[in-house]
Amino acid sequence: MSDRGRFYVTTPIYYVNDVPHLGTAYTTIVTDALRRFHQVVGEETFMLTGTDEHGLKIEREAQAAGLEPKAFTDQISARFREAWPKLDVAADRFIRTTDPDHEAFVKELWKKIEVNGDLYEGEYEGWYCVGCESLKTEKELEQPGNLCPIHKTAVERMKESSYFFKLEKWQKPLLDFYARHPGFIQPESRRNEVLSFVQGGLKDLSVSRTTFSWGIPVPGNPKHVMYVWFDALTNYRSALGTGDLTRFWAPNAKVVHIVGKDILRFHAVFWPAFLLSAGYKEEELPDVVYAHGFLTVDGQKMSKSLRNAVDPLKLAEALGPDTLRYHLLRGIAFGQDGDFDHAALLERYNADLGKNLGNLLSRVIGLCTKMTDGKHPDDDMSTDGPLEAEVAEAYALHVSGAHTAWNDLAPHLALDHAMKLANAMNLYIAKAEPWSKGSAGRVTKILSRCLRVLEALSVMMWPAVPTKVDAMRAQLGLPPVRAAVGVDVWPTQLPGIRAGLALAGAGPLFPTYDDKAQKELLERLAPPKAEEKSEKAEKKAAPGPAAVAAAAGAEGGPIAYDDFAKVDLRVGVVVTCEKVPKKDKLLRLTVDLGEPEARTIVAGLALSFTPEQLVGKKVIVVANLAPREFGSAEFEGKKVKLVSHGMLLASGPSEDLRLATIDGDAPPGARLK
Ligand code: MSP
Repeated sequence: MSDRGRFYVTTPIYYVNDVPHLGTAYTTIVTDALRRFHQVVGEETFMLTGTDEHGLKIEREAQAAGLEPKAFTDQISARFREAWPKLDVAADRFIRTTDPDHEAFVKELWKKIEVNGDLYEGEYEGWYCVGCESLKTEKELEQPGNLCPIHKTAVERMKESSYFFKLEKWQKPLLDFYARHPGFIQPESRRNEVLSFVQGGLKDLSVSRTTFSWGIPVPGNPKHVMYVWFDALTNYRSALGTGDLTRFWAPNAKVVHIVGKDILRFHAVFWPAFLLSAGYKEEELPDVVYAHGFLTVDGQKMSKSLRNAVDPLKLAEALGPDTLRYHLLRGIAFGQDGDFDHAALLERYNADLGKNLGNLLSRVIGLCTKMTDGKHPDDDMSTDGPLEAEVAEAYALHVSGAHTAWNDLAPHLALDHAMKLANAMNLYIAKAEPWSKGSAGRVTKILSRCLRVLEALSVMMWPAVPTKVDAMRAQLGLPPVRAAVGVDVWPTQLPGIRAGLALAGAGPLFPTYDDKAQKELLERLAPPKAEEKSEKAEKKAAPGPAAVAAAAGAEGGPIAYDDFAKVDLRVGVVVTCEKVPKKDKLLRLTVDLGEPEARTIVAGLALSFTPEQLVGKKVIVVANLAPREFGSAEFEGKKVKLVSHGMLLASGPSEDLRLATIDGDAPPGARLK
């Protein structure tokens, strides 16, 4: 496929074990902005986003929420669908992997691969990270505790019959494809990473599961459900179906997948291999898989709790979606890791949108109100002087620079060009001094030039900040940017003179935040820094005199902090788990507490959990409880004393227990305070 007129761009489809957060908002906003640029230049575009709803992770999450998987995914999927328009994201389709047309398409793709001889049945044994929904080699795991290097949670041992996809067979065709299409994997550094992975050899891939049922059944063998990534990746093609929309998967369409670096391999290796195997030709593969970096927030890794604390919807509500969009697009070099800093967001807004673009706009409109009767003035370009030549030079440089940057998937550079052009215009006004007597004959020229560049800037900025741009255009007396297929409105040439057109007057479109307002916003929006949090926690935990006094005698009343501090609560990860023969309620577990050896714990959990459900789970353990005896039981013909070296925290009746756990990536052995 190539870029002649159509542009199809996708976000990853998001797992419904999480609600929209800043990371997923980032990918989605960038994708939307790229799509808007291609609209502006007259291409026919299609943007896809959606939710990834099958697999073990989601099945477990639904179970934990006490819901049927479909009811659970309906709820969370709706959160995503409702979130994106609030960030000015306008996708053409929101796909769910539970959509019937998607399921039907995936089954067809599977059958094609099967007919082509690339699937066979076998048995898989190895390690599986449910967080990644991916197998892990022993080498990849972090020790102690067999931890997934990404999620820092214990992987699970998996042994079951499975279909395998002959991935190994596609190693050479993939390498040939990468060589012939150097732009397929971007940025360059990521490309090298994938190349060396594939050059290192590919192993056949387990693509079905039999130990759970929440997935698309394998055609002809419904005991198996498809591997969730096989199902998920196919969304990019299934969303277009087999009718009219296939024009977006055709020789004159450019197909771009925007993904985070964590999921590049699935997109750059598995996805083209599945497509080739199903009979797609090399020229029918996507054009670009672009892997962007990861965001931290105010310098902290985005753990689940932090993610929840920085709700992009709250930010958009407080500051307007465009302020958030602008900062994400301009402040983070696309492709690299970046920090989302709340204070920097406000500073950037003030500097770029408030003092640069906003100032240019309000100054020009203000001058026109005074000097040109509130209308666009006329101009005679044949009387241009050296200052206009400077403007023309800056204009050519930045308008084409921004065009190239948007095309090259570099929104941060595109916006930098727009800001430099706005800055050049502010300088032009300062040098040309339309208000001074000496400029009397040039006033209309200066203001006309500024208005025309402002119109150009509105188009250049529209992909990033569509609402603000349309408000700005209204002030300029212009209609909103309306993209039409086949009409390229990119301002390669300076927009025409609009003599006589009335301006709609100035209102503060980009009011800056002063120190006080910034402080208030930061207090309201930014999550407390790690140190502040622990200080606060300590303050809270520190006992007041009343608490100590009360602890002295009252039974069931408050306890002293020192008493609480005696309880050693630790994060544990369940390594093994088995039923205790002849004891209905008991399970015997070994739990990794970050100690040299996993602890044996006996717990009355068997009426609520199967051993498989617990292996790999994070639990909270009372680690300094004196060992407790539970009698004895026979394991593999041997009588063994049941001694528990700790206790798990849970709540509920014994047939419906909920385990206490911890979110984020606290390592085994982490102490709870
Ligand atoms: N369901 C899979 C994708 C299947 S695509 C066929 C998945 N989903 S996800 O919900 O985990 O979202 C993944 C995407 O969210 C990442 O690829 C990345 O784009 C984005 N991000 C999640 N956390 C992020 C950051 N902290 N920073 C930037 N983006 C992040 O993987």
